This record gives sequence, C-alpha cells and structure tokens, in this order.
Amino acid sequence: MSITVHGVHSIDHYALLVPSLSEASRFFTSFGLDVRETGGNLELRAADNHVWAKILPGKRKALAYLSFNCFDDDYLALRRQVEASGARFEEGDGNGFWFRDPDGNLVQVKVGGKFMPDAKRLQPSTPTAADHRGVGPRDSVPQIRPRRLSHVLLFSPDVLRAVAFYERALGLKLSDHSQDIIAFVHARHGCDHHLVAFCKSSAKGFHHAAWEVDDVDQVGNGAAQMAAAGYNQGWGTGRHCLGSNYFHYVRDPWGSFCEYSAEMDFISAGTEWPAGDFAPENSLYLWGPEVPDYFTLNTESDPH
Ligand SMILES: [Fe+2]
Repeated sequence: MSITVHGVHSIDHYALLVPSLSEASRFFTSFGLDVRETGGNLELRAADNHVWAKILPGKRKALAYLSFNCFDDDYLALRRQVEASGARFEEGDGNGFWFRDPDGNLVQVKVGGKFMPDAKRLQPSTPTAADHRGVGPRDSVPQIRPRRLSHVLLFSPDVLRAVAFYERALGLKLSDHSQDIIAFVHARHGCDHHLVAFCKSSAKGFHHAAWEVDDVDQVGNGAAQMAAAGYNQGWGTGRHCLGSNYFHYVRDPWGSFCEYSAEMDFISAGTEWPAGDFAPENSLYLWGPEVPDYFTLNTESDPH
C-alpha cells in the first residue's frame, strides 16, 4: 500500500448553482458577505477579501464544483494520485486539473494561496470588570462579517468511499467520524478539524458552507442579524461535539445552509489527530436546540 504524502492545503472556493441570483444576493449579503456581480455570476467575499464562493445561475440548487489549492511542489504528484485513484478527468478551464469524485462532484485542483491559516486563532478572553457594562445596547452591535470560509459539507451516498477517495487522491486525512453516517477530513498542512465533511444520503448534494466568526457571541449575533432580515429557519445556536465549534446554521432559500462557526478545533501541520469513531449520540452536539427535521433533508435527492 502506498502512503500518500502529497495533499491539497485549502479550499480556494466553492461554486453553487441556484435558481435566483437576486435571492442569493439578498441572503448572502444579510449573512455578512460582500456580494459582487460579475459576468452574470455572484462572487462572495469574506472580511479577508478572498473570493470564497461563486454563485451561478442554474435550474436547481446544486454544487457546481469545489476548487482546492495546493503548493507548487505537490501539484504533479497530486495529479498522479488522482490518476491512480481512477477518477474521471474533465476538460475544465485550463487552470489546474479537473475531475469527478466517486459521487460525481466536479473538483478542481490548482496551485494557489494557502487560505487555511497555519495556526489556530486564539480569541483573547476579556472578562468585564466590575462597575462596567458587559454589552452595549442592541443597536450598537456591529454587522457580523465572517472572517473566512471554514469548510463545506456534502451529502454522499457512500460516506466511507468518499473519505477513502479524498485521502488517497487529495491527501486529506480523516479527523473523526460516526460510523458511515458522517465523516470529517482535514488538510495536512495545518487545518481546521474539517475542511470537507460528508453526510450519508441517498444521493450527492450540497448541505452547507461554514464561515468563521470570532466567538460564540458573534455566532449568536449573526443568528440575530439573519432573523432580523427574515431568515428565521435553521439550527442553533449550539456547540458541536466533533470539531468542538459553536454553531448556528441559517437555512438558505434552497434548503441548504450557511453556518456561523467559532472556535473549531485546529490540527497543526505534522500532528497526528487521534481520529475516532463516535456513536451518533456523541457526535453531533453537546448542547443546543433539537435538530429540526429539515436539517438533514437533501433537497437535491428529491426533485421538485
Ligand atoms: Fe459545519
């Protein structure tokens, strides 16, 4: 058995097909992203000014493609790993190489910037001293603007096959999983607990993108910001078990989600994370409201 030593280091961006760009613009702007129209598509920038997502017009919501970045030194070896995995290559746009994963998702790998940080950002905790107010009035809360993309979660008809492929072909590593229900993988060059996650379903599909904010207070303020804009559905606020992040998921107009995420576990370059297989009741959340039925619905597996 060969051991893969070459891996992608970051998601460059994801591209989503949606039936209404104007609805998308309103949703993602309300979420705190900088939305710009260009060439008939939308580009989503976080506070770091990187384009993390492209929103393209389509008949139904679906992942158009997922783009990963790697270091120059790893590029040719990664291409060989993908070839050896038996993946079907696609023509693409001439930038990097393009292929289909076993679920049929279109994937791009190219040489590009490492947008995943090298180290965990430790939020300084500043307790309020006596005789001072801990918070100001509601209308003094600044707009929540996510710092960067953290991860994407995809539905998969075969979670363990997807993990095996991304390990072998793209050099990602298993972080943790719960049986064949959900699994999380990270990049080996210093990465959040998950860069990509897979959740069992009858078909492939895009479940959510997660965006990093500073702390649990920003997660809660983000949820309030979206509720004020009319986006009340979702799940949270709570704290995940696997990944340890505080979360709040807001349902988008097409039944998938955008997540505010804070303080996720971080796996440093060269560190072996003790990947575990956790029982379902120990994998999803420590605390938070009950999971709504629509949270695990794959709207792409049921045409309507
Ligand atoms: Fe997430």
